[in-house]
Amino acid sequence: MQPDLFAESREAIPLGPGAVLLGGFGLAEASPLLAEIPRLAAISPFRHMTTRSGGRLSVAMFNCGETGWVSDRKGYRYQPLDPETGLNWPPLPQAFLSLAGRAAARAGYDGFLPDACLVNRYDAETRLSLHQDMDERDRAAPIVSVSLGLSASFLWGGLARGDKVRRHRVHHGDVVVWGGPSRLVFHGLDSVERGHHPETGPWRYNLTFRKARCRETS
Ligand code: SIN
Ligand code: FE2
Repeated sequence: MQPDLFAESREAIPLGPGAVLLGGFGLAEASPLLAEIPRLAAISPFRHMTTRSGGRLSVAMFNCGETGWVSDRKGYRYQPLDPETGLNWPPLPQAFLSLAGRAAARAGYDGFLPDACLVNRYDAETRLSLHQDMDERDRAAPIVSVSLGLSASFLWGGLARGDKVRRHRVHHGDVVVWGGPSRLVFHGLDSVERGHHPETGPWRYNLTFRKARCRETS
């Protein structure tokens, strides 16, 4: 990464090779991004998915984009239809694509065009345990993760589950980007603030942008 890479960010914290927390990068656009959520959730509602073992994910979620991440008794996968409605996931709003592309470029990944966005909703009881984002076919593309609403602790580990985990407080408008050698780093989320955010009330939202399908070859 170039030394001037972080010059314009209010606060940018390198997390590792190819990974950075861009403090406040999405702050100016946070309100229009949030305004999309009820509109999208009217098409594909928030739901608590189940795991292969029958457990219930404490994070409420839905997707937008050409394909979406789902979990059920059959395991984790991407699929173009929302299993809850039987319909396509709602399309990715332009405002989402635009922020994701610019954040990726700031982190050194030009031309990021996600085909999936997982919208997560957390309250103070919600945890997302350490995991790798492994269900995407295109691992050349980075992950772009936008925090909205109440603050929380983002857990950032290493490439092995047992590696040391650091905690970074993520706030409204922060964006984390990871790819390249850090693409499969274990990460998670806990300690969502208990409180009331002026824009989201009792919730923290997270938009996770991914390129799930491989680049089309002609
Ligand atoms: C995720 O890892 O899928 C989401 C992380 C976050 O909510 O910040
Ligand atoms: Fe993840």
